[in-house]
Amino acid sequence: MPRTIITGIGMYVPERVITNKELTQYMDTSDEWIQERTGIKERRFAHRTQETTTTMAVEAAKMAMERAGVTAADIDFIVFATLSPDYYFPGCGVLLQRAMGMKEIGALDVRNQCSGFIYALSVADQFIKSGMYKNILVVGSEKHSFGLDMSTRGRHVSVIFGDGAGAVVLQPTEEEGRGILSTHLHSDGSEAEVLAMYNPGTHANHWKEGLADFDESVISEMFVSQKMVDKEQFFPNMDGQAVFKKAVVKFPEVIMEALNKNGYSPSDLKLMVPHQANLRISQFVQHKLKLRDDQVYNNIQRYGNTTAASIPLALCEAWQEGRINKGDLVCLAAFGSGFTWASALLKW
Ligand SMILES: CC(C)(COP(=O)(O)OP(=O)(O)OC[C@H]1O[C@@H](n2cnc3c(N)ncnc32)[C@H](O)[C@@H]1OP(=O)(O)O)[C@@H](O)C(=O)NCCC(=O)NCCS
Repeated sequence: MPRTIITGIGMYVPERVITNKELTQYMDTSDEWIQERTGIKERRFAHRTQETTTTMAVEAAKMAMERAGVTAADIDFIVFATLSPDYYFPGCGVLLQRAMGMKEIGALDVRNQCSGFIYALSVADQFIKSGMYKNILVVGSEKHSFGLDMSTRGRHVSVIFGDGAGAVVLQPTEEEGRGILSTHLHSDGSEAEVLAMYNPGTHANHWKEGLADFDESVISEMFVSQKMVDKEQFFPNMDGQAVFKKAVVKFPEVIMEALNKNGYSPSDLKLMVPHQANLRISQFVQHKLKLRDDQVYNNIQRYGNTTAASIPLALCEAWQEGRINKGDLVCLAAFGSGFTWASALLKW
């Protein structure tokens, strides 16, 4: 059976840099607080009207495809991970297919938030290994800046997130000692509301009381009501401490699962590229696994948490900096809303 390799990787971040200091114009926060708790110094915000989640993905995809030496006509499947799609439906996959003038290929949208890229990679890996597709484009892209509560009320969430996109081209290889060795996907929905954006949605307070204010007697109100708008119930919600506590357990667990499955230990890793959730979480995981600084890649300081885009963005920069070379053992790991968590172990 062939293995899946990344033959091209690309990234795109918007030009506009938003420093921590700039956020103090909108909310009661400080550069010191943000850096101390998250490690973030700045993030990028997309152009309000000229850039969307899909347009950023297109830029990242063009770079990945050029590096892989393939054209839009060669791509035979798209997997698009995002939690901030251009439309509620259809998903960004078809918008990317249209924007890039691709053939009438399959376009799959993945909604696994921070674990989205690894989930997407895992799905694509199965299609390559089975021989069904030969050139798959996997992208993660987010335009968070459009959906954040920029007032003091939302500061514990809004200071963390940024915009950007990353993409990879996946192809089969028969080359010994290369490719994706295994992927590991997990979920635990028992705390689904701990990190979530509830509205607009069809839940109608079924799972938990008080998430949306609407008048049940009005047939059209449940999805979007004036009360929801007035009470600003359209922003992401997060219990940061609950997320932190779970993340520092599940990250090491899923990394060890991947290493154990393939007979490796943390010391064998050339590079670990964690989802850039929070620098403190990455440092905790590094410490727990006794990894050296040169074995872990972080760029959250410059981009914030870009959810589904964070792993391909970090992987792309690590590769550009020469931190990953052919045959190197690389582990990708993520944890986030759902909760979902995942890892992928690969030989570059
Ligand atoms: C969000 C996070 C940075 C908050 O840090 P924390 O140490 O848990 O802080 P708390 O929420 O307990 O808040 C501590 C204080 O800081 C305040 N605060 C929250 N956000 C603030 C901000 N941006 N600026 C200044 N003060 C802030 C709180 O209001 C609270 O004030 P109080 O003590 O007067 O009530 C932290 O919980 C975290 O990183 N969690 C993981 C989040 C994550 O990774 N999410 C993405 C998952 S993929």
